[in-house]
Amino acid sequence: MSGLIILGTFVDTPTRDAIRIRENHLCVVSADTGKIVLLSPLLTADWDALADDDVFKLAGTEFDGYRVMRLRKSQFVTPGFVDCHCHAPQYRQIGTATDYTIFNWLNEITFPNEAKCADVDYARNLYTKLVQRLLRNGTTCVQYFATNHVPASKLLAEICERMGQRAFVGKVCADQNSPDYYIETTQASCEGTEEFINYVHGMKSGRDAKGKDALVHPVITPRFVPTCSDALLTKLGELAKKYDVRVQSHASETVDQVLRVRELHPDIGGGRDAAIFKHFGLLTDKTLFAHGTHLRDAEADELVRAGASVSSCPIANLMHSQAVLPVKRFHDRGLKIGLGTDIAGGYSASMLGPIRNAVIQNRTEEFVEVDREGEGWPTAGVKWPVDFKYAFHVATVGGAEALGIQDLVGTIDVGKAFDALVVDAGCEDQAFDYWEEDGARFGFEKWVNMGDDRNVVETFVNGRLVASRS
Ligand code: GUN
Ligand code: FE
Repeated sequence: MSGLIILGTFVDTPTRDAIRIRENHLCVVSADTGKIVLLSPLLTADWDALADDDVFKLAGTEFDGYRVMRLRKSQFVTPGFVDCHCHAPQYRQIGTATDYTIFNWLNEITFPNEAKCADVDYARNLYTKLVQRLLRNGTTCVQYFATNHVPASKLLAEICERMGQRAFVGKVCADQNSPDYYIETTQASCEGTEEFINYVHGMKSGRDAKGKDALVHPVITPRFVPTCSDALLTKLGELAKKYDVRVQSHASETVDQVLRVRELHPDIGGGRDAAIFKHFGLLTDKTLFAHGTHLRDAEADELVRAGASVSSCPIANLMHSQAVLPVKRFHDRGLKIGLGTDIAGGYSASMLGPIRNAVIQNRTEEFVEVDREGEGWPTAGVKWPVDFKYAFHVATVGGAEALGIQDLVGTIDVGKAFDALVVDAGCEDQAFDYWEEDGARFGFEKWVNMGDDRNVVETFVNGRLVASRS
């Protein structure tokens, strides 16, 4: 038996509207299970003075010999981020072509980049850099789109497992409306998907820890309606049923895409994504749609009835969708919502980017018609529903709910996996010392609003140290 005992402050957001701060706490993590086995108040705020033996006495003798970690006053533990939507092959192009429209961006930039992953060595190099960057940024769980290629998709799953990132990985499916150099036959797409599911289920983490506790999971991934034939969608619906695995796709993302889908399928539910996926058996309680920006209320309700969820990708939506996802409105209807970077439709490789933009997007939702004519002021006294606490909740608990792993990750609680970050709000020149007396509340808010990877001292997934600043 071995593990870790952490002494210090723990900050998380179990609900949307409050930060939970537990100062002077002792947390025990089992290295065998990766789970938190004890979290209790310490009798002293002076934990630096406690010798290891005193700590073992406080924690319980069964934890003798565990590594003791004493946090500094400027440090605290938070849950790791859950990124519900990320295209691994697009890491090459992140931060570029932000002046393109969605279909030009796909055809001229994205498809050529994704096609490069036919070369497994190229993919290995790129994916290793991406997973390392995300772990350093504090992202402990990601739902990925890989590419059409089975070998490179398997490789992404393996890299996540080896580097210790919790991951949901999809081999992308596209058998139409794609360039000649990046398209599959319907049969190859279906067979490749089945091969990929079986491969990931047979991986070490899949065998050792069945079901929800597995570190890496396969996801059935029709790219979006335009690139998938009826035959392909039908077969993928059958596979979703046969294997009872997760499903992801893009839905109701941009005006151009919504119009294109309506042209392609005028006869299914008025050509709306939600109805089309439902028609083909791809709207299940394990489905997570990226974006959903242009969902109607009735469609959000349909998703709720199915048990499906959406990933809000605020940067991509503000850039491309001509609309934003009404997070509060859909939450109030019961929809499960996570947050996504949408690399590279969104240009941030850190979840702090979408968190900040989720707040900004909510501010834009509350915009008023400016009184330019001097005719009177339309409203007063707005209360902003989505603030930094709410956005952090969506990036942690929300993502866990959207992926069906809310019992495993999202908060720091006994019984949950230790997917967590040690954050230092006071590194280098960030002047935390002026705030120290105010405690973790402002340190946490400062980090969420203006921190970066320098503040993420250590990243743990399932109790394992997977990234470290030093
Ligand atoms: N729709 C189809 N493919 C994509 C993609 O790669 N990114 C985004 N944002 N939308 C898509
Ligand atoms: Fe996307």
